[in-house]
Amino acid sequence: MADDLTIQTGGKDGGIVINDDWPGYSLELFNYPKHYSGDLECVYIPHGVIMDRTERLARNIMGDLGDHDIVVLCVLKAGYQFCADLVERIKALSRNSDHTLPMSVNFIRLKSYVNDQSTEDLHIVGAEDLSFLTGKNVLIVEAIVDTGKTMKTLLKHVEAFRPKMIKVAGLLVKRVPNSSGCLPDYVGFEIPNRFVVGYALDYNEYFRDLNHICVISESGKLKYKV
Ligand code: IMP
Repeated sequence: MADDLTIQTGGKDGGIVINDDWPGYSLELFNYPKHYSGDLECVYIPHGVIMDRTERLARNIMGDLGDHDIVVLCVLKAGYQFCADLVERIKALSRNSDHTLPMSVNFIRLKSYVNDQSTEDLHIVGAEDLSFLTGKNVLIVEAIVDTGKTMKTLLKHVEAFRPKMIKVAGLLVKRVPNSSGCLPDYVGFEIPNRFVVGYALDYNEYFRDLNHICVISESGKLKYKV
C-alpha cells in the first residue's frame, strides 16, 4: 500500500446495535405496499429511524471530512437510496453551517448475490476505470456489509487507482461468523445475520420499492426465488 494512502476501516462507531432477539415491529403498525402482503415477516428498521440515523452519520462525516473535497462512490444497486439520503443530509449541513463539504458523486455496480446467498462470483459492472479517483478523498457508500468480501474486493480495486484517502459508509453491517473483519468507518446499524429487504435492498430485484427495512418471510423467499 502506498504511504500517502490512508485506509481507515475498523468501525470507530459501530452503529446502533440490533440484538439477535429483536423481533421487529408487527407489519400492522406500518404502511407498506399491498403487493408485498404475505412476503414479509416484520418491519425491522422503520424508514424514519433510518433517516434519523443517516442524519447523524452525515454530521459525523462532515466533522471528519468537512472542508475537504470528496468523491462519493455509490455502490449500486442497493446503495442508491442510502447514498441519495446521505448526500442530501451532507448538503443540508453544508448549507446551514460554517463548514462545507464539496462533493462529486459517482457510481459503481457490484453483483454477488443469487437468492439469499452470496456467490464467489463478484462482478464489477461499469466504471471499471476509476482513474478519476487518483489523488482524491473517496467516500464509498454501501447499503450492507455481510461477509465483507464485496467491500474487501472493492477496496482493493479502488486502492489500485491511488486515491489520497478512502473512507467507507455502510448503512448496515451484519454480525456473521465468517466476516472478513473489514468494517466501514461509518456504520448505521449492526444487525443480526438475517436476510433483510427494503430501502433499496433487494431479493432477486424485488422489494427495492419498500421504504422500511424488513425481514423477508419464507413464503416471500419461495415466491421470488430464481
Ligand atoms: P458480502 O460480500 O457478503 O459482504 O455481501 C454484500 C452484498 O450482498 C451487499 O452489497 C448486498 O448486495 C448483498 N446482501 C448481503 N446481505 C443482504 C441482505 O440481507 N439483503 C439484501 N442484500 C444483501
